[in-house]
Amino acid sequence: MSANGFAQTSSVQRGQALYQSRCTACHAIDANQTGPAHRGVMGRRAGSAADYKYSDELAGSILVWTPKTLNAWLADPEKLIPGQRMGFQVDSRRERADLIAYLATLK
Ligand code: HEC
Repeated sequence: MSANGFAQTSSVQRGQALYQSRCTACHAIDANQTGPAHRGVMGRRAGSAADYKYSDELAGSILVWTPKTLNAWLADPEKLIPGQRMGFQVDSRRERADLIAYLATLK
């Protein structure tokens, strides 16, 4: 609660809500679905979730997922890794920042 008595939603909370509404059609935290499982994604090598069949382009990239690379990925995956298979992007910088704050909590 903030000083004026209204609950403030944090970036992580907003990111979690965005994740539920935008990402769970294809992703889950602990299971591979259309997209790879997300637990531990921050700091992980791109294309390295166990038992998920990535595109050759993503699997062969030398990226590590950091706030910076995740921001570029979510803004335009095809620009970051041409030939990848995630057909989705997030245009709002603030929404990307919230999503990244949430992903970072999935340890
Ligand atoms: C329409 C389905 C779809 C939606 C919606 C989607 N993704 Fe994906 N995502 C994928 C697919 C498919 C891949 C794997 C791409 C490849 O192998 O080239 C992927 C890969 C990723 C990766 C790379 C993970 C790794 O292990 O290297 C991240 C991070 C990611 N998605 C985040 C998100 C977030 C955050 C959202 C919601 C804002 C989202 N995705 C929405 C399908 C989707």
